[in-house]
Amino acid sequence: MPFYIYLAAEGMSMAASAAAAAVGAGAVALFRLNRLPSSPSTSYRSCLLLKGLRAFAPFPYRYHFASYSTSSLLSQEAAAVASQLPRSHAANTSSNVVEILEQRGLLESLTSDGLRSVCSSSAPNQPPLRVYCGFDPTADSLHLGNLLGIIVLSWFLRCGHRAVALIGGATGRVGDPSGKSSERPELDLETLHKNISGISATIRHILSRAAPTPDSVSILNNYEWWKDVRLLDFLKDVGRYARVGTMMSKESVRKRLESDQGMSYTEFTYQLLQGYDFVHLFRQEGVSVQIGGSDQWGNITAGTDLIRRILRVEGAAHGLTFPLLLKSDGTKFGKSEDGAIWLSPSKLTPYNFYQYFFSVPDDDVVRFLKMLTFLSLEEIARLERDMDTPGYVPNTAQRRLAEEITRFVHGQEGLDEALKATEALRPGAATKLDAKTIEGIGEDVPSCSLPYDQVLSLSLLDLSVSSGLLESKSAARRLLKQGGLYLNNSRVDSEAKKIEANDIIDGKVILLSAGKKNKMVVRVS
Ligand SMILES: *[C@@H]1O[C@H](CO)[C@@H](O)[C@H](O)[C@H]1NC(C)=O
Ligand SMILES: *[C@@H]1O[C@H](CO)[C@@H](O)[C@H](O)[C@H]1NC(C)=O
Ligand SMILES: *[C@@H]1O[C@H](CO)[C@@H](O)[C@H](O)[C@H]1NC(C)=O
Ligand SMILES: *[C@@H]1O[C@H](CO)[C@@H](O)[C@H](O)[C@H]1NC(C)=O
Repeated sequence: MPFYIYLAAEGMSMAASAAAAAVGAGAVALFRLNRLPSSPSTSYRSCLLLKGLRAFAPFPYRYHFASYSTSSLLSQEAAAVASQLPRSHAANTSSNVVEILEQRGLLESLTSDGLRSVCSSSAPNQPPLRVYCGFDPTADSLHLGNLLGIIVLSWFLRCGHRAVALIGGATGRVGDPSGKSSERPELDLETLHKNISGISATIRHILSRAAPTPDSVSILNNYEWWKDVRLLDFLKDVGRYARVGTMMSKESVRKRLESDQGMSYTEFTYQLLQGYDFVHLFRQEGVSVQIGGSDQWGNITAGTDLIRRILRVEGAAHGLTFPLLLKSDGTKFGKSEDGAIWLSPSKLTPYNFYQYFFSVPDDDVVRFLKMLTFLSLEEIARLERDMDTPGYVPNTAQRRLAEEITRFVHGQEGLDEALKATEALRPGAATKLDAKTIEGIGEDVPSCSLPYDQVLSLSLLDLSVSSGLLESKSAARRLLKQGGLYLNNSRVDSEAKKIEANDIIDGKVILLSAGKKNKMVVRVS
């Protein structure tokens, strides 16, 4: 529960004791030194208050100075006291992010338990950690598989730490390390730049909504430091410290060595490239934690090893991996019949993104609520209990999952757009359709164009076939008899129904539906 306290000249000692009591009871205090008091004695009291509250540290708090109306000397004094407080922007500093991740099924392995104690609230005066996750620019958009990295970074942000997203611009030039595409044709710098800007934009959009302050998130590209590294320097500064035996024993390497095509030297070196990224970020940017999917374990430990050997520091760098997102049948979650679940709205509309989560099976929904949303565990437990009660409306938990995650990825506007399209496309929906709404969902559902005079007076059964919605007139007739054929969301019962002028919405479009799922937008020209 956030606890707000406005420090003003009057009633300060009462406010102070109330705040202290609330903080002692585990509340989050937000200090807003709204108007610093005008007389020296009250100003000192505000300093004393901050000093006194420090005795309760570690506690989650925020402070904020606004509209100084008095002598800046006095405000500076209060600011100096405040700046000595353990952590600034965190509202959740008392929560141990490692424990949160563990409770939510987002923790697979840690390189050492040191990270757990660094994150624990009994480690006061600990500055915020800087945490990084790498993203390879192998496509022009991120997909669902990348989302867990962004979610884990967001949990660190929520617990008062800072996030760095590292785009692999250098590693992207080297080629696909997994050797999936055996030989890269000549390097296509244009698509590489497009890919980098596409995924940077998505990360920026999502993380900036999750960030308490703009400076708690940065996006870096490793090409910035790799472009000037010469081979001889690399061998001297990095290669000398890397043990080939260790590199060979990594599972991903062993697997590739056993395969028919073997492994290229470039691919073998990939773990050193990624390992050195961590060295660079540790040294130059104060980054001490790397997170990644469980398939990144070898690359992450290559980094912590190099930091130990090159910089000769023990236990200062940490790695954390999260599990892959699997369905309960063991297959990978994140692919639909039409391909990957992209995070960029230009590749997959918010409506289709929303629908994908809406149709998650009941067996998976609770686990996904924990992993993919920020809802409290109590709330998720309540949704789970409701699923077993009589009268449960099917897909209520899925709806919540779809809403939370669509809002996280596409923002409130994206969610509104998805909900609007969902409602407009719901058979039997009462909302009045207009051409603009239908145009808006034009990307979400299949569409076709037919000339006006061909459509007018055509029977609905014929239109269902000529538009491509159904395969044959007999199939259309059968569906109509079953009550599954809809024109502009209204069910049609008569086989004789012909398209009239007022069925063509705003003289431009018709919406046909076959059952709940199959739609066709007929653009009339
Ligand atoms: C950029 O993305 C496209 C697909 O969107 C992919 O075919 C291409 O290989 C990517 N470029 C690099 C350098 O990975
Ligand atoms: C603090 O953490 C809890 C979950 O432990 C979360 O629900 C809440 O939104 C977080 N508060 C902030 C301000 O991030
Ligand atoms: C390093 O990352 C690449 C790219 O994701 C992956 O193909 C490879 O298996 C990883 N290697 C190790 C040793 O973790
Ligand atoms: C759409 O079709 C329905 C069903 O025939 C009709 O009642 C309605 O007037 C048509 N036009 C609009 C704008 O909904």
